[in-house]
Amino acid sequence: MIILGIETSCDETAAAVVNDKREILSNVVLSQLKEHEVYGGVVPEIAARAHMEHLDSIIKAALSDAKLTIGELDGVAATCGPGLIGGLMIGMMSAKAIASSQGIPFLAVNHLEGHALTARLTDNIKFPYLMLLVSGGHTQILVAEDVGVYKRWGTTLDDAAGECFDKSAKLMGIPYPGGPNLEKIAKNVENPVAALNKYPLPKPMTQHKNCDFSFSGLKTAVRNHVEKLPEGDLDPKDIADLAFAFQDTAADVLADRCEHGIKRFLEEYKSRSPTLVVCGGVSANQTIQLKLDKLAQTYSMKLCAPPLELSGDNGAMIAWAGLEHLRLGYTSALDFKARPRWPLDGTAEPRHGAGVKA
Ligand code: KG4
Ligand code: ZN
Repeated sequence: MIILGIETSCDETAAAVVNDKREILSNVVLSQLKEHEVYGGVVPEIAARAHMEHLDSIIKAALSDAKLTIGELDGVAATCGPGLIGGLMIGMMSAKAIASSQGIPFLAVNHLEGHALTARLTDNIKFPYLMLLVSGGHTQILVAEDVGVYKRWGTTLDDAAGECFDKSAKLMGIPYPGGPNLEKIAKNVENPVAALNKYPLPKPMTQHKNCDFSFSGLKTAVRNHVEKLPEGDLDPKDIADLAFAFQDTAADVLADRCEHGIKRFLEEYKSRSPTLVVCGGVSANQTIQLKLDKLAQTYSMKLCAPPLELSGDNGAMIAWAGLEHLRLGYTSALDFKARPRWPLDGTAEPRHGAGVKA
């Protein structure tokens, strides 16, 4: 079974081909960094126009890298939510057009499920598994019970983790894209202990015995520190120290919230090889991976983190999620509507301050 996957929900125009032997035959990602850099964040209208301009050639490149013709596909999957509506519609309509012209199934994929199932593509992880999903738009702890079956145990009450990295980076004068650049700058710290003492930061929610998150207080504390720094150009040493303190604190918060999830998971699911999966763009962060790995080991659990090329948005995760659906016989109708909000666990209560992030 060979599936083409298309991803256009945010600022990556991506297409990839995977097969049911868990092989990635191609994975083409065009990032729109340059287009959005001057604005310091993603501009939806600019993103949609860029997807429109580049998607055809990205799909052609994905097929050519995979050495396949369009007629050899068994299905075509596209991200149909959650995300920016303009981009979603462009990817979805292209996939529907290919599906109807080739007479093959169309698969409407939830972007979050793409991140969630990547661990099965890369490491063949069996259900059920515990999952920390950390991206620019979402921060959740869930149990993946089966394809399409997710239980949300915790979510953010305000900002998402990636959003907090990006906003804090901006406050520190670190250029877009904030998350990965902040990680690079934090590596310049000379004395980690001194940096943590110099810039104390709160660890929101860590006193709560649940799996919820809150990041807006952490961002505000970063702002307060930045405002106290000397006027004028910020000293690179101060920024490296503050970036380090922020990253270490954010990673501690994520690990603390996961620990509650781990205890509950081990109690409720008698899994023989319990696994903690971390996924979404923020999962690329090495400090976060290290802290989660240490935590998982304490509970004799395995940590599964995606390789860098699959942690951020990509078409392979969408193709794989589509493949998982198709081999169970689930397909989507050609009148499927794109969904800017599409929770993985439709039974979970929406959170007020979190909006689409819940
Ligand atoms: O999953 P993703 O690529 O897009 C969404 O679905 O949102 O996640 C993007 C987020 C951004 O907030 C970005 O700054 C963050 O992931 N990110 C990182 C790192 N790489 C990407 N955050 C912290 N450290 C990183 N190395
Ligand atoms: Zn994503």
